Amino acid sequence: MENQSSSKPKTVASPRGTQDFLGTEAERKNLIIERARKVGRLYGYQAVETPIFEFSEVFHRSMGETSDAVSKETYTFLDRGGDSITLRPEGTAGVVRALISNGWAQHLPMKLFYSGPMFRYERPQKGRYRQFDQLGVESLGTQDPLADVECMALAWQIIEDLGLQNQAKLEINSLGDRTSRDAHREALVKYFLPLQSQLSPDSQARLTRNPLRILDSKDINDRKLLENCPRLEDHLTETSRTFFAQVQAGLAALNIPFTLNSRLVRGLDYYTHTVFEITTEALGAQGTLLAGGRYDGLVSQLGGPEVAGVGFAAGVERLSLLATQVAAPTLSLLAVMPADPASQIPALALTQELRNASFACELLLSGNMGKRFAKAAKLNAKAALILGESEIANTTVAVKWLATGEQAAVPRAELQAWLKNKLNA
Ligand code: HAM
Repeated sequence: MENQSSSKPKTVASPRGTQDFLGTEAERKNLIIERARKVGRLYGYQAVETPIFEFSEVFHRSMGETSDAVSKETYTFLDRGGDSITLRPEGTAGVVRALISNGWAQHLPMKLFYSGPMFRYERPQKGRYRQFDQLGVESLGTQDPLADVECMALAWQIIEDLGLQNQAKLEINSLGDRTSRDAHREALVKYFLPLQSQLSPDSQARLTRNPLRILDSKDINDRKLLENCPRLEDHLTETSRTFFAQVQAGLAALNIPFTLNSRLVRGLDYYTHTVFEITTEALGAQGTLLAGGRYDGLVSQLGGPEVAGVGFAAGVERLSLLATQVAAPTLSLLAVMPADPASQIPALALTQELRNASFACELLLSGNMGKRFAKAAKLNAKAALILGESEIANTTVAVKWLATGEQAAVPRAELQAWLKNKLNA
């Protein structure tokens, strides 16, 4: 009966595209972020934190109304005050908003590192989630192409630090300056207008709104028509060409391996000049580990001064799926066992004393001694520290090493130094 089934407790499901992480997997994500942050410090990046939600306008005005990330994928809602709020789909727009609202432009140049959850209503699959973590950097206030080089050098060093360089590839392209893109856009529209009816509905819409995005189309027919379309590299201005040549020369000088990919256009609208991605073939369809580029007009577009910017963000889950060897160093665990009920409180105190001295300890209270030794072995403890009536009377602790069975009565006063010695040996 309907009523009966609805009165049964239901399994509480999680929303599609979200994940739960436990133990080493949860820890690995944090370790990856911390390692990247440390590499970032070598390049002078300082931490920045911005809110997880912003006024929707921040994303609409920065990422472009026509980008998928804004038009189809945002989590947007009216809050109780009637303001339109969006959960951040990426970090750049929020950092730029913070720069403007706090007047940080006085302190330029600035190099900022952030990490945290992002939200996109995408179709979930391996490596693509609706809530995911990014770690990212933004270098603000430097117009020089060598800032792009430094940014990519940092990205590559993060990949190397995680041991992923043999599975990863840096691809770069130039979208040129505004003049280059306007000329290219005009040429694209001229090329596609007579072919309009053959384009996919999505691309037909893009033709008037943002023709550059047609280059991103996955539609097979569109792809065929794209083979002979006007290329951006043929429309780059002299300035853009020189800029891109300097970027390439810089990367070559640093021995950072890269390939040119003229099809790389990126899904967000704010890019100018350099765009880049670090991709892998090891993750299937979602192989972009990290992506970024230069966004010189973005700060003014959001109402701030003219400030140059370049940055990137990496998907932490994607890095974590590959860098499975990243793990916290294992601690040498000690299992403290009271031999009788009267020794429980003294054993608790001993455990606390050792933890305060930075020993990893587990207090094992339940079950007979045999069971507790089995538990200690399961926890991979190095030694059992047994405390009973006679040990308390003699102010000693009975220490039994689990691997060898070797046993010793150690005076309490010497215990910490003795353990440290033995564990380091
Ligand atoms: P993006 O290409 O949209 O760029 O995202 C950067 C990275 O975030 C991707 O390469 C991918 O690793 C990860 N990512 C994106 N969407 C998902 C998802 N649904 N699930 C899992 N991982 C995902 C940006 O966000 C720009 N803000 C990067 C940037 C910073 N450009 C300049 N500065």
